[in-house]
Amino acid sequence: MIVIDRIISVPHLNQSRLYIRWKKLISGQPIDGEKLFSETYSAWQRCAACGVNPFKLQIKCLSEEELQYRKSRMREILNLLQSHIETIKRTLSTHSNVYFIAVADQEGYIMEVYSDRASENTVCNLPLYPGVCFDEKYIGNNGIGSVLAIGKPLAVIGAEHYSKLFHKWTSVGAPILGDDGKILAVIKVNIPCGLESPYTFSLTVAAAKAVEAALKQTQMERQLQEFKKILRQLMQQRDIIFNAISQGVVILNKEGTVTFFNKAAERIWNLQASEIGGENFNCLDESRCRRLELLLLRTIREAKPFTNIECKCKNDQHDKFLLVNTSLLRDENDAVAGAIGIYTDVTELRRQEARIREQEKLAVVGQMAAGMAHEIRNPLASVRGFAQLMSEKIGQINSTFKEYMEIMIQEIDQADSFINNFLQLARPKPPAMQQCSLNELITSFARIFESQAFLRGVKLKTDLQEDLPPIIIDRDQIKQVLLNLCQNALQAMDLRGTIILATSHHKEEKEICLSVIDDGPGISPENLDKLGTPFFTTKDKGTGLGLSISYTIVDRHRGRIEVDSKLGEGTRFSIYLPVDQQF
Ligand SMILES: Nc1ncnc2c1ncn2[C@@H]1O[C@H](COP(=O)(O)OP(=O)(O)OP(=O)(O)O)[C@@H](O)[C@H]1O
Ligand SMILES: [Mg+2]
Repeated sequence: MIVIDRIISVPHLNQSRLYIRWKKLISGQPIDGEKLFSETYSAWQRCAACGVNPFKLQIKCLSEEELQYRKSRMREILNLLQSHIETIKRTLSTHSNVYFIAVADQEGYIMEVYSDRASENTVCNLPLYPGVCFDEKYIGNNGIGSVLAIGKPLAVIGAEHYSKLFHKWTSVGAPILGDDGKILAVIKVNIPCGLESPYTFSLTVAAAKAVEAALKQTQMERQLQEFKKILRQLMQQRDIIFNAISQGVVILNKEGTVTFFNKAAERIWNLQASEIGGENFNCLDESRCRRLELLLLRTIREAKPFTNIECKCKNDQHDKFLLVNTSLLRDENDAVAGAIGIYTDVTELRRQEARIREQEKLAVVGQMAAGMAHEIRNPLASVRGFAQLMSEKIGQINSTFKEYMEIMIQEIDQADSFINNFLQLARPKPPAMQQCSLNELITSFARIFESQAFLRGVKLKTDLQEDLPPIIIDRDQIKQVLLNLCQNALQAMDLRGTIILATSHHKEEKEICLSVIDDGPGISPENLDKLGTPFFTTKDKGTGLGLSISYTIVDRHRGRIEVDSKLGEGTRFSIYLPVDQQF
């Protein structure tokens, strides 16, 4: 505002006094600074210190190439200035048909000059063209160099110019500042001294401020785009990480709407993220365990997290045991913004614990059973011997008695085999490990089992992966597992179908997989959970020990058995045995 006052208040007449002081200065006489505007005085001091020649301008000019390069860097500012320059031109032309508007870069080099025809003819003695440097040290104080020197808008009027060439001109300049307060460009207006209008200065400053605001806005828009890009990348990274982990992750917003549902959560609930995303978590139906949903919703409602709560949940097929941990998500004002739930599937762990409990029970029962079995087997062996003897002796006389005796012997044999099985389960022998080829073992087993299968109208095929590494196992025990699984398959099939024995090597996991695959009736989901429980059988004459024995043997080999079954399609038992096992 001070500067505007100056333009209005410095009367043209005072120029002659100013001129006298200027002359004193350039002839080296001392001048009284107090009779000058302080800005003019210090500008003259600066020019004198730099050795500016007041009668001859030193022209420093950019090469055409450099000029084009600098203009291209300033393109955005030049474009933004266009409409403002038109406004300034229109306003100036109402009171003077001679004017120049120039835009310079941060070093004072003129990038563009705007004028009208009449002015162009007048310009001939002024070095006002693109490429020329208007720094004070070449041209003296002016609307570009002095703005760069003091960083503020200003006006240099007539004889206030250090260089005599500009004494007939008034030069008004305003800086265009960047975000960091540094000057990016200067806009300057030249009008003949005495024809200044009170609007010249305010228009110039307003144009500079408008460009600054527009630059700021573009910058903010750019930053916004950049933030959006970063946010998108972060969301992608979050999805990749959360989808790679084995725990289910569910994120809700504060309304309880699902905003994220990872792959493991899809598996737990047997539900696609696209089906539940955007829905309220409450929408999961009753059968999929209310308690889990409530825990996460309660986290939001009660603003408190839950730690290690175990829940039982049902997806479409199985009961699942889940360990639930929930946390609150808060916004920048610390208000509740949602909740995140982490669900660890501990079903297999619980199953194994149940199996261990069974085994512990069996171990106690086994101690007792072993003694009892011993006591029963000895008399049984005598009874069988006598039955055999009687069958032979009486059989010659009475064929009906022979038949009865043979039934007795069969029943005794079945009781004996039950006792054997039970003993094996209760007190398993430690495996006698030796290196062997699993493929060879299967081939020799298949040769024997084939005839048994053939009699029941079932085909036996093998699908063995070549180059399996050798494996350290107890051959007899693994053969027994094979026999149990093949017998189950055979018994399940209705006198037709195929059993496939397959092997595969899983290098990464350092495991060999041996599968027994049948196309029988399959196993219902309720029964799947009971497999391996001692005495679980669906057969009239089954003991329900075959799978328990097989699980125990494979456990002792530090392997595991996995079952896949579909009703009406068939069953696959996969035995995974470790390779490179040291015992
Ligand atoms: N391949 C299969 N197809 C269909 N059901 C099967 C299959 N394998 C096992 N099962 C089911 O699992 C149950 C338990 O099998 P397991 O071998 O432990 O006992 P079992 O065969 O009934 O009696 P055991 O083997 O002692 O004579 C079976 O009764 C059967 O219902
Ligand atoms: Mg069986």
